[in-house]
Amino acid sequence: MAEAGTLHDAFIDELRDLYDAEKQLTKALPKLAKAATKPELRTAFESHLEETRGHVDRLEEVFGSLDEKVRGKHCDGIAGIIDEGKNVMEEDFDEATMDACLIAAGQRAEHYEMAAYGTLVAWARAMGHDEAADLLQQTLDEEKAADEKLSSLAEGGVNQEAADAHSDSENESEDEEEMPKKMPPPKSRGRAAARGGRRMA
Ligand SMILES: [Fe+2]
Ligand SMILES: [Fe+2]
Repeated sequence: MAEAGTLHDAFIDELRDLYDAEKQLTKALPKLAKAATKPELRTAFESHLEETRGHVDRLEEVFGSLDEKVRGKHCDGIAGIIDEGKNVMEEDFDEATMDACLIAAGQRAEHYEMAAYGTLVAWARAMGHDEAADLLQQTLDEEKAADEKLSSLAEGGVNQEAADAHSDSENESEDEEEMPKKMPPPKSRGRAAARGGRRMA
């Protein structure tokens, strides 16, 4: 009977999975960058592409530190996330909404990577693979920073622009006389007190 696999075996297996995931992301990130309208978002994807190429190299160093051959194994998880991102890019959204959706797609990938690297850092430490752990931690920090950058772009304007693009087109198509039944007319909506009051309600 074959010997039971060890945590070390599982670790190497996960490294191969992640190596393939990073390679898939080096092909997907240029597409996200190309689809982005906001220049800061495009730049964020492009600079994370550069970092992602570094993640591939760093994983090669990790394999080397463990005297393991560099090998990838198809990562179904990231392939699914990338596929969903591709589907979104085929939708007919306004530019701001598309940017918001691209951020959502990018953050799904970052969170997948953060989960994977977080586990591998902890496993490497538990097994005393300190050099591997330090290398993996460096990448984990970059994934977290990329995720935070995307959050700051979303919360710093992209989401609101997308929300406003939608409400503007709704207001245009709506008969003004009907508006008071549902909400105050645009003039009184401009008053901070009224806005605050509704938000608190
Ligand atoms: Fe990465
Ligand atoms: Fe990443």
